[in-house]
This record gives sequence, C-alpha cells and structure tokens, in this order.
Amino acid sequence: MMEMILRNFFLFLSQNKLLNKSAKKYGLKLGAKQVIAGETIEDAIETVRKLNDKGLICTVDHLGEFVFNREEAIESADYCVRTLEAIAASGVNCNLSLKLTSLGLDVDRNLCRDNMRKILATAEKHNNFVRIDMEDYAHLDATLDLLNELRREYSNVGTAVQAYLYRAERDVENLKGTSIRLIKGAYKESHKVAIQDKNEIDENYMKIIKQHLLNGSYAAVASHDHNVIEKVKQFAKENNIPKSQFEFQMLYGFRTDLQLAIAKEGYTMRIYVPFGNDWYGYFMRRLAERPQNVAFAARGIFNK
Ligand code: FDA
Repeated sequence: MMEMILRNFFLFLSQNKLLNKSAKKYGLKLGAKQVIAGETIEDAIETVRKLNDKGLICTVDHLGEFVFNREEAIESADYCVRTLEAIAASGVNCNLSLKLTSLGLDVDRNLCRDNMRKILATAEKHNNFVRIDMEDYAHLDATLDLLNELRREYSNVGTAVQAYLYRAERDVENLKGTSIRLIKGAYKESHKVAIQDKNEIDENYMKIIKQHLLNGSYAAVASHDHNVIEKVKQFAKENNIPKSQFEFQMLYGFRTDLQLAIAKEGYTMRIYVPFGNDWYGYFMRRLAERPQNVAFAARGIFNK
C-alpha cells in the first residue's frame, strides 16, 4: 500500500514541469549523481570508457523531456548527432538511446521523423545503432508508426516494448525481426490499457521475452530483477538460443555487482548511461520504481 502511494507520488512529481525547470538550474542533486553520468558528452564518454574497461558495454541517453518548439527539437537532434560522432571518435563500445518526444514528436511528427533520419544516417555512417525508448501510452502508436516508417530506410533502429500493456504480445509479434528492448514498463497507466498487478506483469514479461526469442529476433532484456535474468538464461539454454541473440541491460548505478557477474558469465551486459542537465523526470521515475531508491538518493545527498 505504502509502496503504491510512493510510486504514484514520484510519478506525479516526474511530470511536474516547474520542478523540472528548477532541477536544471540547480544541477545534479539529491543523489542523482549516482545514477546520472554528469552533464556533458565528455562526462558520458568517460563513464562509458570506465564501464567498457570492466567488460560492460553501454547505451547513452542525453536526458531531455518536455520539448515545446521546433528549435528545441532540432537542438536536441543535433546533440544526438554530436553524441554519435563523439562515440565514434572515442572508440568506446556504446550505442544511443533516445526519446521521440525530445525530438519533437508532440510538436510536429514530420519534424521528428526528419530529426530521426539525421540521427540514423550518422549512426549508420559509424556502424552504430539507435534505440527508441518507449514513453507513456499516449505516445505508443505514434512511436511505432514512426519506427515502421524509419525501418523501411534504416535497419539500425529498434524500440522497447512494455510488458504491463495488454497489447504487448501483439506489438512484439508485429515487431518480429526488429531488435526490441523488453521491459516491465515505468509509467503510470490506466487499468484500461495496462495490467496493474505486479505478479501478472512479471508473468507477461517472461511471456513476451520468450515469444521474441522464439521468433528468432534480437532481445534486450532490460531488468534489475534477478529472477527474470535467471529464467532467461535457463530458457535460452533449454531452447538452444545463442548468447549472440540477446543481451541484458541495466541502468547505470543500479545492481553493479550483478552487472559485473552477468558479464563475467559471458553474456552481453549493456549499461544504460543517462547524462545531461534535464535529469529530473528520469530520476523521479527511478524513485517511483523502487521505494528503496529513496534511501539510495538520500545517501547521495550526504555523500557528495
Ligand atoms: P522490478 O522493479 O520489478 O524489481 C523486481 C525485483 O528485482 C525486486 O523485487 C528486487 O528483488 C529486485 N531489484 C530490482 N531493482 C533492484 C535494485 N536496484 N537493487 C536490488 N534489487 C533490485 N521503462 C519504460 O517504460 N520505457 C523504457 O524505454 C525503459 N527503458 C529501460 C532501459 C533499461 C536499461 C532498464 C533497466 C529499464 C528501462 N525501463 C524502461 C524501466 C522498466 O520499465 C522498469 O520500470 C524498471 O526496470 C523496473 O523493473 P525491473 O524489471 O528492473 O525490476
């Protein structure tokens, strides 16, 4: 009960535009530093290099939410292009994750598509890959629609599917052959579209992971849940699914021992490394996911 109250509270805060604005002004505070790799591309590359040295590969995400106009959307796309250039120049093992709303999905769908084309062309030039994060349900159809259009031109792009959605199985089927990040889902969604019971979400999560793997498609299993990770390893072994057909993903700063252990076992372990000054919404969603993260954040306040 308390967990649910906290979850809703932090999800509510995550959508507060005023607090988002102030957070940008005051820099990385409240423990955010432990889960966000600094504010600049250079900070992110340095973090990625350290993770690479430990056998972990990465995806970086330049944090950005609430883009209101064309200029901001274009600026955000240019930043993604510069990030891909910096990754290539530095030689680190890392791809890019991004959110379509930060590229103008709510401003002008075609502008967003053109921004994505620019980014994907840069990624293609450097033989790299771009993953579209999945946002709230209100953006799902527009995201999948744009992805389908982009995939006619580019193969170096994929997205994520949220297991809490009733339609997840159908979306996974439609995305056969596409690299998908499979996740439980981080937003507060209505019972009309999303499963609310945690055990049922976990069940559906395993179901769609197995479905995508049996389809012969590439799966990025993004979860900190050790039960899920063990079940996926077991399932892959039993079904002769090679380690090259899937990877595990976790967020920067979470369960670092488990990340290293998974990599040591010879699995691909990719760390999602967020950076930038627009960290507020991301940080609040992480607090919503796990009340214990509040203690983690509080420790950060005193360990600066
Ligand atoms: P969950 O929170 O369900 O926890 C299950 C169990 O795992 C816990 O009971 C505990 O035992 C253990 N556990 C979890 N976290 C732990 C910790 N920090 N320390 C110790 N034990 C822990 N969401 C979205 O909507 N769109 C997206 O694009 C993405 N992208 C994304 C990328 C990556 C790399 C990750 C890891 C996650 C996302 N997510 C996401 C978030 C995702 O949807 C989900 O909200 C969180 O990962 C939380 O669910 P988990 O599966 O990690 O475990």
